Amino acid sequence: MKRILLVSISLAVMALIFSNFADSSQSSYVFTAVNEGPKLPSTPFNYKDIEIPDHISNPSADDTLGYGSTGINHARVLDIEDDVATLGRVLFYDVKLSALEDISCGSCHDQKLSFADSKSFSEGVISPTKRNSMHLNDLFWSNKEHFLWDMKETDLHEMIRLPLKDENEIGANLTDIIEKLSETNYYPELFQNAYNTSIITEDKIINALVHFISSMVTFESKFDKEASNDFEGFTDTEKLGLNLFSENCTSCHSQGGHDPHGMFPNGFDFNGESPLFFFPDIFNNGLPEDPDDIGAGVLDPFFNHLFKIPTLRNIELTAPYMHDGRFNSLDEVIEHYSSEVIENKWTENGFIPAGGFQFTEEEKGALKSFLMTLTDHNLTTHEMWSDPFKIGTSTNEPVENLVVRPNPMADQSLIEFDSNGNTPTTIHIMNISGQTIKLENTLSNQYTLNKGDFESGTYIIEIIQADKKSVQKLIVR
Ligand code: HEC
Ligand code: HEC
Repeated sequence: MKRILLVSISLAVMALIFSNFADSSQSSYVFTAVNEGPKLPSTPFNYKDIEIPDHISNPSADDTLGYGSTGINHARVLDIEDDVATLGRVLFYDVKLSALEDISCGSCHDQKLSFADSKSFSEGVISPTKRNSMHLNDLFWSNKEHFLWDMKETDLHEMIRLPLKDENEIGANLTDIIEKLSETNYYPELFQNAYNTSIITEDKIINALVHFISSMVTFESKFDKEASNDFEGFTDTEKLGLNLFSENCTSCHSQGGHDPHGMFPNGFDFNGESPLFFFPDIFNNGLPEDPDDIGAGVLDPFFNHLFKIPTLRNIELTAPYMHDGRFNSLDEVIEHYSSEVIENKWTENGFIPAGGFQFTEEEKGALKSFLMTLTDHNLTTHEMWSDPFKIGTSTNEPVENLVVRPNPMADQSLIEFDSNGNTPTTIHIMNISGQTIKLENTLSNQYTLNKGDFESGTYIIEIIQADKKSVQKLIVR
């Protein structure tokens, strides 16, 4: 409460300064570009209505997809809430979460790359992290029992606490961070929308991040579209790849990981326990042993050199591959499986032959084509998963001669700008929390605002023409 008061006082003082400035200047307008807060749609994006395709949700008993599933335990699927996921999106991309305000989750988990990172070892606050960053797509329904390459974490909430506090990743002191977030002009409202209270806690931060991450699914892939259609739209090469995958890879990579939610054939349910304890052999694919990284050996030396099997969905976009990022392309990965598998105590059980599967060149190409049907560009391009701080803040050229007057607004204010009369100009007005108040297109070189349409407060006016953009602040009393 005290803080809200403080914020309002400082806003009032700012307004006073601005109005003095406005009064003393001849043209009487304020020229400040603000772009600190996130830009969010006035109605939140729809995160909650994720439709899990039938072939994953209720697969038939004689599943011949070769990418088989034994179904999802729906009781363990999170019900995503739109306002909580929206908050999570802002937190995910906000550098304010980091000690030096220079890094966010999005720095190592890039939307374009299905939330992986293109570096073998992601850059942290102090030094590169020790492992290749992981893609985050489809976490909520696949691979849900264990996280991180070494599978040490079994709870996503606890897992997310780690990068937040790891000085090698975000490295923040959460008490300081919470205070900092409370002082912004956007978090109190976002927490209020999400949780009916503007009080910020560590658990609420983490919960919001979990909702946002859980919304990252890839069900718009060609594979998913074709699965309900007997793969009629697959090319012959893709069909061959599907068959090869089914014969050689599904034992470990069913649905892109082990079976989702720990349900194995015969309805065997691990009840949240990692299948590592039941089928350790599937977590080794015959890579040379790395003396510096024992993987799941941190849990028990018996599990030395076992690593998590990440989902293969969107795998086309997440190079480099494996826990140490050793392979730069899918061709290199397939070559490993074809001819470079090194025998060890885990490969003895026959899921993977020592020396590799010996694929022909045609088969290698087909496997790659199949893996590429698992790509979903909706996740990697849609605004709902994008950085809300970056929208429109590219290093665009400005729209020339933008003037808003009077400012603060009288009964009306006039926005003027240069226009060639052919390119429509978009007028986008947001409140200070980034919510859209007005969105109009015009071919004219001016636009009138009426005070009746605005509550008192500070607004951000964006003027966009093709790839040009300018921003100004408007005060309404
Ligand atoms: C400095 C880079 C970096 C930052 C920043 C970062 N991560 Fe990660 N993330 C990684 C790396 C590297 C891994 C794999 C680590 C390992 O296995 O030891 C990972 C793994 C994960 C995983 C596990 C995925 C799986 O399949 O098991 C999740 C979830 C995750 N990060 C979420 C987040 C969230 C949320 C944030 C922000 C709070 C964040 N990360 C910030 C680099 C980063
Ligand atoms: C015996 C189990 C097993 C089999 C069989 C298997 N894999 Fe894997 N796969 C793994 C494991 C374990 C990893 C992670 C290994 C690591 O990082 O150390 C992995 C990783 C991968 C990755 C990289 C994932 C990433 O995010 O970096 C790809 C791609 C892949 N496998 C494709 C395939 C294909 C294609 C086949 C069939 C030709 C196959 N796998 C067969 C166990 C297996």
